[in-house]
Amino acid sequence: MKSIVILISGRGSNMEAIVRACAAEGWPARIAAVISNRPGAAGLAFAAQHGIATAVLDHKAFASREAFDAELQQVIDGFAPDLLVLAGFMRILTPAFTAHYAGRMLNIHPSLLPAFTGLHTHARALEMGCKFVGATVHFVTAELDHGAIVAQAVVPVLAGDDEDSLSARVLKLEHRMYPQAVRWFVQEQLLIENGVVRQSGGESQSFI
Ligand code: GAR
Repeated sequence: MKSIVILISGRGSNMEAIVRACAAEGWPARIAAVISNRPGAAGLAFAAQHGIATAVLDHKAFASREAFDAELQQVIDGFAPDLLVLAGFMRILTPAFTAHYAGRMLNIHPSLLPAFTGLHTHARALEMGCKFVGATVHFVTAELDHGAIVAQAVVPVLAGDDEDSLSARVLKLEHRMYPQAVRWFVQEQLLIENGVVRQSGGESQSFI
């Protein structure tokens, strides 16, 4: 039985999709805790209602990024996770933190990485005239929004699309893709060779 800790900053809809899939599909895993850096994160209520331990660590109460990450690591490790899942966790992480969870921390980012790291990904894709946008699940490394790619989801840009319509359409695929990627980790079906991730069960890592 694998133990999973999920970090959120807000709505938590990806966290919700993972919690639901874990229960519905009977993964050999449990969600040990949901932790937010924002006290008002909406996702905390869903987690509590589902009997999951919650914690809040307000980054504004810390003098430095290093101090926050060190305390966050303490709180996370109190739940002894096999996997740390970033689900809309809007913080840049320190190298010490990413090194501690190397190979056992996943993130979802709303772009087709390596394009559009950082914020406002869909707006920037529209400005560039991109014809497809999407989202990526990847292992987390010290470099922001880099790391081995586990899965990608793609949607076409349609006439009249704006940032909101694109993010809504991509989010639907995120909710399919991220639970599957987490399940693959739990089932030990992710193999990394030369920085490239292969799903050993033959399931598609592309979501359309
Ligand atoms: C998701 O679209 C996720 O891809 C994005 O934030 C949203 C969180 O939604 N993540 C990032 O931008 C990380 N840099 P959620 O809280 O409803 O899961």
